[in-house]
Amino acid sequence: YLFVPGLLPTHQITELNSAVPGLLAGEEQRDGIHRERERSGAVRQVYLTHRYCPPFKAMSKNAAIVEPVKQILGKDIYIWHSKINVKDAFEGTVWLWHQDYGYWMWDGVDPKLVSVMVFLDKATLNNGCLMVAAGSHKWDRLEHYADEETTSYKQWCVDTETLKQRLTEQMIQPIAGEPGDVLFFHCNLLHGSGHNMSPLPRKTIIIAYNELNNKPRSVEKPRPDWAVARQFEPV
Ligand code: SIN
Ligand code: MN
Repeated sequence: YLFVPGLLPTHQITELNSAVPGLLAGEEQRDGIHRERERSGAVRQVYLTHRYCPPFKAMSKNAAIVEPVKQILGKDIYIWHSKINVKDAFEGTVWLWHQDYGYWMWDGVDPKLVSVMVFLDKATLNNGCLMVAAGSHKWDRLEHYADEETTSYKQWCVDTETLKQRLTEQMIQPIAGEPGDVLFFHCNLLHGSGHNMSPLPRKTIIIAYNELNNKPRSVEKPRPDWAVARQFEPV
């Protein structure tokens, strides 16, 4: 992974954040934007803003973000999906340890995707900042199982036995930071985050990019377009 403090200027983050209340309040039938909710009803995730919300669309094509991804993946890339992870004050719940490719494999792609997490709020240990396992991108894919109990959201995650064998305390790096900081990470990097125990929200947007020559093969149960984009417009 690569953490770049202050990659996006404050005025850009302010512009993105000012679009968020409207995104949280909207309805999919009207604006095409897909939302997932916590059990409390609070919005947990907002998908497709890179398509339908102008400041987020511009940011997903911003050279400061796209160029480093092209250095990693090559110049022909498209957006696999994007999601604002809201993690609202007190309500935002845990993300169990997982590799994104742990479940993206079932979408019929090879592990050639890179995610970019843009911090929209300050992220701290108190509000559940992301934690990554340094070096785990070299592990290859671990087996994942679907947890449908811990949160409102079906999460593909690594079982405790495997974590006990593989994950050491020294590997765990909390990625605390400021609005405008950006984290680039490989789809096999093990990551997760805790509950938001603080009065401050921890909003981030994660945009995942895929190589154009790694478009999903046809699979038995294709996931919807908000999760696995069927638009392959190069960025
Ligand atoms: C994710 O892995 O998609 C979510 C991680 C987080 O927002 O803490
Ligand atoms: Mn993830």
